[in-house]
Amino acid sequence: MEFELQLTKRFHIPNCNKLEVALQHGAYSSLQKLFSMKPEEVVEEVKKSNLKGRGGAAFPTGVKWGFIPKDTEKPIYLCVNADESEPGTFTDRYIMEYDPHLLIEGIICSAYAIKSHTAYIYIRGEYVKQYKILNEALKEARQAGYIGKNILGSGYDLEVWIHRGAGAYICGEETGLIESIEGKKGQPRIKPPFPAVEGLFGCPTIVNNVKTVSHVPWIVEHGGEAFAKIGTKESTGTNIFGVSGHVNQPGYWELPFGMHVLEFLEKYAKGVKGGKLKALIPGGSSTPVLTAKECEDLYLSYESMREHGTFLGTGGMIVMNEHTDMVKALKTLTRFYSEESCGQCTPCREGTSWLDRLLNRILAGEATMKELDLLIEIADNMEGRTICALAAACAMPVRSFVTKFRADFEKYIKPVSIPVHKVAEKILKHEPIA
Ligand SMILES: Cc1cc2nc3c(=O)[nH]c(=O)nc-3n(C[C@H](O)[C@H](O)[C@H](O)COP(=O)(O)O)c2cc1C
Ligand code: SF4
Repeated sequence: MEFELQLTKRFHIPNCNKLEVALQHGAYSSLQKLFSMKPEEVVEEVKKSNLKGRGGAAFPTGVKWGFIPKDTEKPIYLCVNADESEPGTFTDRYIMEYDPHLLIEGIICSAYAIKSHTAYIYIRGEYVKQYKILNEALKEARQAGYIGKNILGSGYDLEVWIHRGAGAYICGEETGLIESIEGKKGQPRIKPPFPAVEGLFGCPTIVNNVKTVSHVPWIVEHGGEAFAKIGTKESTGTNIFGVSGHVNQPGYWELPFGMHVLEFLEKYAKGVKGGKLKALIPGGSSTPVLTAKECEDLYLSYESMREHGTFLGTGGMIVMNEHTDMVKALKTLTRFYSEESCGQCTPCREGTSWLDRLLNRILAGEATMKELDLLIEIADNMEGRTICALAAACAMPVRSFVTKFRADFEKYIKPVSIPVHKVAEKILKHEPIA
């Protein structure tokens, strides 16, 4: 398969985080063309490219940019989401580590397109190394005139600030992120208004993922149509897919969308380790899990995932072999979500911890069969009733784990001892015994 790397093309070059080296290998080459275009033309190219946000929701980037009110007199902000806290997701960090100038170039292109003069990079607190590298790269870019006033004599000004998070998953949610930059608790806001209309400091704001923004220089240089030709109809361009869990070679690879998942696992991750494939979480832990059978006709594309009732999400896959205890695996996830719920919405605050406590009971062998159904009932009552998608991010895995791997859960259910006359009563009434 012939294709051009867009995001990882300079990863193999030693010291490419240094401006001098990055420049020798084509960094900032899109800027000359960028400044010859009108901002609206850049937005148009990104629309044509059908680039979808790589942060998880896959919202079309150009369409989102188009939501900024045309006649606004307020400043417009670009916030780059480098929080990358979704379990199983670990690719943004390598752009910041190995090619920070690609991200900075992407920020210049994206900010120019949306007529923003101030951009923030919100980086997760744990990424200390990446923060230091990015900070140095930004200093070098500023000194060389790529950031600041009148960039390369274009008349365009842009300042870029790095804001470090303090280790909360919810600050990756775009409005939680905005609150956090404003110096408040990272608690998501009710939408609408959407950030594109009223975001940071009450002004129009675009929040985009690191990878999304880093794709833009390629689109500026080659055009939206060229980007749209790569991958599949709905999933255009390339993506960095990450694999962790039971594989022989965990890692990340940049590929055009569309490859068969099993071929990808075999060719790049060198196959499933320790037994046969049992389950796959396709795009960060918030996406519904798939069985090995479902993976048989599954492709790395938004549309194929949707057809299988799941999402490509962040593209961070978690592979589980046949010896995986799905109850323990789910318990790890519910603990995470219950700890990370910001607590504003009752269905999320209470629901995530109920689920977690129920899983404790199941694992301790104290639960009854009814409690398996209760897991699903609670999950059903969390989704669509909260301010942000964290509740759904917990509910979806729970529902898919319990329905697709029910036998794993049933193994933990203790036999119910009820008096014989009660059993007889229940049989006569056609009621379940447990
Ligand atoms: C609980 C939660 C956590 C999120 N964490 C991240 C994150 O770490 N990085 C990210 O890019 N998007 C994250 N998102 C998605 C963002 O809200 C937002 O959709 C994204 O940054 C938009 O960028 P994109 O359009 O480029 O994908 C999260 C969403 C939710 C609900
Ligand atoms: S859904 Fe959960 S994390 Fe999101 S705002 Fe509500 S309580 Fe907070």
